[in-house]
Parts: sequence; structure tokens; C-alpha cells
Amino acid sequence: MQLPMSASLAPNLIWRDQAGSTNLELIELAKAEALPDFTVLVTANQVSGRGRSGRSWQAPADTSLAISVLLRPRLEDQSDLGKLGWLPLLGGLAMAQNVQSLLGPESASVTGVKWPNDVLVSERKICGVLSELVQLNPADGRFGTELAVVIGAGVNLTLTEEQLPVPTATSLALAGAKLPESLDERLDLVLSGYLERLSHWYGRFTDARLSAVVSGLRSAVIENCVSLGREVRAILPGDTEQVGRSVTIDDSGRLVLEVNGQPFSVAAGDIVHLRHA
Ligand code: BTN
Repeated sequence: MQLPMSASLAPNLIWRDQAGSTNLELIELAKAEALPDFTVLVTANQVSGRGRSGRSWQAPADTSLAISVLLRPRLEDQSDLGKLGWLPLLGGLAMAQNVQSLLGPESASVTGVKWPNDVLVSERKICGVLSELVQLNPADGRFGTELAVVIGAGVNLTLTEEQLPVPTATSLALAGAKLPESLDERLDLVLSGYLERLSHWYGRFTDARLSAVVSGLRSAVIENCVSLGREVRAILPGDTEQVGRSVTIDDSGRLVLEVNGQPFSVAAGDIVHLRHA
């Protein structure tokens, strides 16, 4: 596979004709050898993709991209660990901006991140993100252990309505993107657009010593989040639920709901958009 634009954006780009789960394969590689920060493992034929909350993630061969990126930010102390929670949102933001650029400016108002990191176009899911924390070889560690994050993104390129896993999904082609005829060029365009934005935001975030506020990451996520100002149902860990109006994303990346006039912060879970406010 020829991916020249993408290869110029990563120190190590690993292409697989087929992979089980790109996240799992990258995690295993990273544990076995010292991979550089921003190593990318990618395929258009992932056969055992992992989704959030133990779900699976699948698409017919050559209709989507499964992209996993190893991030190894410098951690100064234990308090930096909590800031890693911004990385999945950063992945969602990078893909949302990439999709907006591929679909054109008129798509911007309907394309964005559904908190925490799905990417939607007109309420239909075009990309899912699964981030996994990885403990690398302790010998390579800074304070006893070495932590890294693998950000996995699955983006639908040319799936037809019949090929969608669920009717609430979509693909770039269905959403109206003009994609190159050649498979190599198509994959390279979508992958490089994502890696460019991921690298941009990751660079700003790490330069700001993992401050989402100073780097502008929080503002950008808020600007590109289609969940804000909406009535949502949050499905919380332990299968409890909370319904409220989503008002902002706080400095820790939590979605803040307004429930009976009181703020209620959601740190983890899935949300369902109920209706426009
Ligand atoms: C979701 O449930 O919405 C998240 C789906 C994440 C899928 C991507 S595809 C690349 C990476 N490898 C995996 O096994 N999963 C993620």
C-alpha cells in the first residue's frame, strides 16, 4: 500500500493488509519493543475490531480505515495521569475536523464530536474512537512504570447503506464526500488528514504540559462538540442513568449536565442525544 502523505507525518507507520484489532496489535508491539511516540498501525481490513464497552467493531474489507496511534507523552508526576483523559477527546476532535474538511464547509454545523469521542455527521456515526491505556516495559519507565495511550479510530469510508452495521451509522461516501477512485489515494487522503490534525493537537497539548486549557484543546473540543446545548441521557457506569441538558465540558474533560438547575458532571459513560433544545 502506498501512503506517502501519511508516512511523512509519522516516525513509524506500520501498514497491515489485515489485522485482528489494530489497537491490540499495536499494544502488543509496544510492549515487545520500544516504539517511538506517534507510531501508527493501520489497516483497511480489520477482522476483530474492538469497540467501547466490550462491543465489537466491524466493516467489510477496504470500506473503512482502522487506525491506531501510540502516544507516549512525557509525564512529570502522578497528577499528569488524569490529564491523559483528554487524549480520547483529542482523537475525536482530530477526526471531526478531518471529516469536516473532507465534506466541505457546509458540513461543519452538522459534523462534530458526540461526547466523549464519537464523530457524527447529521446525528449519524461516521467514526468511533477507543483509547486504551498501556503499561509498557517497566525497564523503560520514568517512575517505575511507563504509561502510554493507544488511540484507535475506526472511520467509515465507502460503506453503502446496506453495508452499515446499524442504520444510525454513515460513511464519508454516503455523507457526500468526493473521494479518490484509487484505493491507495483514498486511504492516504483520509489517513493523512487525520494524522495531521492529531499531530497538531497532540503537539499543542504536550507543549502546554498536558493543559487542555492552555493548549486550546478544551475550547476546540467545545467548539466542535455536537452534544452541547442538547437534552441528553447519560448512561453511567453501573447502568444508572441521568437525563439533563448538556452545558459544557469542564477542565477535566467531563461533560457537565444541568439537572433541575444543578450541575451534574459525567466523567465516563455513553450519552444519547434526546432532542434539540
Ligand atoms: C466505538 O465503540 O465506537 C469505538 C470503536 C473503535 C474502533 C477502532 S478501529 C481501530 C481501533 N482498533 C480496534 O480494535 N478498535 C479501534
